[in-house]
Amino acid sequence: MDPSQRRAGVAALFDQLAPGYDRGGVPWFGPIGTRLVELTAPQPGDRALDVGAGRGAATFPLVDAVGPTGHVTAVDLSPAMGIHLRDEAETRGARIDVVVGEASPDTLPAGTFDALTASLVLFFDPQPAQTLAGWISLLRPGGRLGLSTFGPTDAAWTAAEAVLLPYAPPQVLDARTTGRTGPFATTGTMAALLEAAGATDVDSHDEPLEVALPDGDAWRAWTMTLGLRQLWAAVPDSAMPKVLADIESALEPDRRDDDQLHLTQQVRYTTGTRP
Ligand SMILES: C[S@@+](CC[C@H](N)C(=O)[O-])C[C@H]1O[C@@H](n2cnc3c(N)ncnc32)[C@H](O)[C@@H]1O
Repeated sequence: MDPSQRRAGVAALFDQLAPGYDRGGVPWFGPIGTRLVELTAPQPGDRALDVGAGRGAATFPLVDAVGPTGHVTAVDLSPAMGIHLRDEAETRGARIDVVVGEASPDTLPAGTFDALTASLVLFFDPQPAQTLAGWISLLRPGGRLGLSTFGPTDAAWTAAEAVLLPYAPPQVLDARTTGRTGPFATTGTMAALLEAAGATDVDSHDEPLEVALPDGDAWRAWTMTLGLRQLWAAVPDSAMPKVLADIESALEPDRRDDDQLHLTQQVRYTTGTRP
């Protein structure tokens, strides 16, 4: 499949997810976006760019960080995400520019942004190295870049996803769902990806994020609001009862004394500077 078709598929997936996106009652994108902005360290007055902004998990922390003298542009491939983001900005009284499409020197002025974030975005891209080099070219020399991606999940969570994976058609397998191969595999490969794209002063490290849920049904309901929805969609109705039962038992080792499942995802934060 050619890259533009892959990106159209990503836009279609997120158009479908947009209404319920990040509304699953589980603190997830918000804490990741907030932490990413903290590590990218934009300054008051900066011109900041949030790529793959979704419903604004990093966009609004950027707005707070750059303050009234700064400016934030948010870009997303998904038109539906763009609509929700504009509505949210209006509700909050935040002045942002929302651009639907890709972030590249063809669509935005090169060499002008002081800070760029992309929270949980790059692993959907069919050409991550090339795309990243394009993002970096949008920064001014000395501008800061911050990416969040995923590191490992705990053993029970990994086992639950493994129940779904055999049903997944190849076109939905990206770095999030394939054992995180290639540039997204480790902090070392992420750092190498940024350095190869021309960034300096690179740091990549993982920080744990815990989610507490009552049972496998709650895990299903929550993951249906995430990119994992495309794995659920591939499970035939006839296989669903066994899949649900297998997931329920796969998650059980994470149950603690409070009777909740405590699932841990390592979140990978990678930052760098345009020389
Ligand atoms: C998992 S969501 C993350 C959204 C938001 N950053 C957050 O943390 O909640 C990924 C978003 O990136 C968008 N996206 C994926 N690839 C993109 C690209 N190359 N350029 C712009 N947006 C992209 C998708 O449409 C989707 O809204």
